[in-house]
Amino acid sequence: MEQVISNIVESPQRMSTAEFRQISEFITSQYGIKLPDFKKTMVEGRLQKRLRKTGIKTFAAYIDFVFSKAGKDEMLEMIDAISTNKTDFFRESSHFDFLTGILLPQFISENPREKLKIWSAAASSGEEIYTIAMVLEEFNVHLDRSRINYSILGTDISIEKLKTAVTAIYPEDRIRDIPIMIRDKYLMKSKDPRKKVVRFIPAIRSKVEFQRLNLIENKYKVADDYDIIFCRNVLIYFDKNLQERVINRLCEKLRPGGYFFLGHSESIIGKNVPLRQIEPTVYQKI
Ligand SMILES: C[S@@+](CC[C@H](N)C(=O)[O-])C[C@H]1O[C@@H](n2cnc3c(N)ncnc32)[C@H](O)[C@@H]1O
Repeated sequence: MEQVISNIVESPQRMSTAEFRQISEFITSQYGIKLPDFKKTMVEGRLQKRLRKTGIKTFAAYIDFVFSKAGKDEMLEMIDAISTNKTDFFRESSHFDFLTGILLPQFISENPREKLKIWSAAASSGEEIYTIAMVLEEFNVHLDRSRINYSILGTDISIEKLKTAVTAIYPEDRIRDIPIMIRDKYLMKSKDPRKKVVRFIPAIRSKVEFQRLNLIENKYKVADDYDIIFCRNVLIYFDKNLQERVINRLCEKLRPGGYFFLGHSESIIGKNVPLRQIEPTVYQKI
């Protein structure tokens, strides 16, 4: 009998439509992320993992907890679980070719002594930021005289992903898209080979900083003279009006003539924003 009982696997909890709507309305109002009804299975699956982790038995109890004072930390976990954080080194690599081929040579000829300020506004776990840093370092290697001094800010809503970005430590199998020559220059292997992780060198880490920032806020507490803003693969999760508002707010932080990058499936078509297109998904502030 004991044997039979130990083999019984608890079936996963089901989320009711009302529970899904309670969560989805909250996420959309606080973070802008659209969660239409067809995303219910996805949300249910991702939050079933949170139920298992917290030991909470039902979605009703989970919702009560997460919206209570005691559930503040779990609220952050819930947002992390629901939002999509997919990212990669050298993702959508044509943007980095544009940096090296057009933008950086232009910057150095127009502002040779200034610092280049870059902001990645949906930085996830940092792969985008460290890619930009490696591209800049490589560009500098090929300059005879003055190097471009630069700083990169990464922001996101996900505390968990930002923590990874700050440590700058990644599993070895995450770095396969980084060309080997570059990898060897900017990444250090762990002293313990069993760990199979790599870390960006201090020279790169000293150029980047991270903070939590929710793009649906009315005011962004960051500088207002960025030369380049990357806002890639996040606006797709917002509705059209919010996309327009966010782009306008980001443009307030971009200096005139500064560059703005969107993800390859995003565009400014039909939006009233102060940008002109330079290449598909590359724009310049008017
Ligand atoms: C798919 S990832 C894109 C990462 C990177 N930009 C890239 O293209 O590889 C989207 C990121 O947007 C973040 N995000 C979603 N809603 C946000 C919001 N309201 N404010 C700030 N970041 C948000 C998510 O946490 C996630 O890390």
